[in-house]
Amino acid sequence: MTGASGHLGRAVAKHAAAALGTGRHLVLATRTPAAFTGAQPETDVRRADFTDPTTLADAFVGVDRAVIISTDDIDGRARGQIAAIEAARAAGVRHILYTSMLAPVPANPAIIAPSHWATEEHLRNSGTDYTILRAGFYADFQVFEAAAALASGTLVHNRGDGRCAYLARDDIARAAAAVLVGGGHEGETLDLTGTEAFDAPALARLYSEIGGHEVTPQVVSDDAMLGLLGAGSEGHNQYGARLTVSIGQAIRGGFCDLVTDTVAQLTGRAPDPLGAVLARSGGSPG
Ligand SMILES: NC(=O)c1ccc[n+]([C@@H]2O[C@H](COP(=O)([O-])OP(=O)(O)OC[C@H]3O[C@@H](n4cnc5c(N)ncnc54)[C@H](OP(=O)(O)O)[C@@H]3O)[C@@H](O)[C@H]2O)c1
Repeated sequence: MTGASGHLGRAVAKHAAAALGTGRHLVLATRTPAAFTGAQPETDVRRADFTDPTTLADAFVGVDRAVIISTDDIDGRARGQIAAIEAARAAGVRHILYTSMLAPVPANPAIIAPSHWATEEHLRNSGTDYTILRAGFYADFQVFEAAAALASGTLVHNRGDGRCAYLARDDIARAAAAVLVGGGHEGETLDLTGTEAFDAPALARLYSEIGGHEVTPQVVSDDAMLGLLGAGSEGHNQYGARLTVSIGQAIRGGFCDLVTDTVAQLTGRAPDPLGAVLARSGGSPG
């Protein structure tokens, strides 16, 4: 697996290691092998940086099935992820999994969609067995929105009547580990979602219950939302504001409202409800 030192990567590695049994082992590929100093001596840690092709040739040697975790470099990642797919193919990897997002189709306005779509398309046309894991938005990250809404008493949003079935990162990891270790699902695109799709009024009710005081939803235009989030900011923060607004547009456009039982089918356990994820977060996404 690539991206081994990220939050999702660590969780996939934990669940996969627990399910592996004897005779097979996990290869942890990361830009920062030093992050695993002190791990079990038999742990196979390799350097893999999608922007450095010299690290990719050896990263997949001897690997049968690989999961490529999408990187956080939204603008540049398609090229790197495609390089990783090609390196895996060249090394003889039989089955490649990729962690994508729900409905990254060209019509999806979320600015993270095109790079996922380009990577998916490359994988679909690669001639290799593949499984695409399309994950819903992290339930863990709703903690920020819940905190802001509780502080102001208002859930300001640009999602219209759209809904989203948020999913805990650990549940995505459990599903990815199940396919990585258990195999099967070749040629499939699996939609991983939470158990319930929330619109803004339902989210406001949930935040009110958790926080103990009332939160009222307030819909605003995309421009107003951008102004509220990004006013006076630049660089990273401005980018974050554009990302958040585009995710609101995607939710409003119906690209996130799917509810599936795929996580339960793959893992034998339903994902945690959003309320449980928020209640245990203690104000931090982990
Ligand atoms: N569904 C959602 O709501 C949601 C939210 C946020 C992010 N995501 C996506 O899910 C991914 C995993 O999430 P996370 O919470 O684990 O994020 P994270 O902790 O920020 O991890 C970032 C990941 O990107 C990898 N990465 C970055 N640059 C790389 C490069 N040049 N070559 C290879 N790998 C690179 C990192 O691997 P190493 O550090 O080990 O090299 C790490 O696994 C993110 O990268 C993003 O694509 C989804």
